[in-house]
Amino acid sequence: MYNEIVTDHFTHPRNVGVIENADAEGSVGNPVCGDYMTIYVKVDQGRIAEARFQTFGCSAAIAASSMMTEMVKGKTLDEAMTLTNMDIAKALGGLPQSKIHCSVLAADALHAAVREYRKRK
Ligand code: FES
Repeated sequence: MYNEIVTDHFTHPRNVGVIENADAEGSVGNPVCGDYMTIYVKVDQGRIAEARFQTFGCSAAIAASSMMTEMVKGKTLDEAMTLTNMDIAKALGGLPQSKIHCSVLAADALHAAVREYRKRK
């Protein structure tokens, strides 16, 4: 069902966990499948210096979170806000149609974290 990239990110997820002194965090859930995701970010000079995640969800949601945290490192906040779920799905080499919403969760959590950061500053 999943390609090699997705399987790699699911079985060896990057950047799992909490950033204790995060500059912001964003949480989203999907009421249909019940999956839940929190993204933590550290921001340095307007760029995302570190991103970590906790995902309670399916394989694709974990792979999407992992890929997203890799993709967003070093990006400006504006760039992070333009990262779409399709960018994440593409970087993963594609997701089954029924799993596209898992990548939406990852993009939404990232955007929520950036919005939270901007609200705090
Ligand atoms: Fe809902 Fe994957 S099945 S996020």
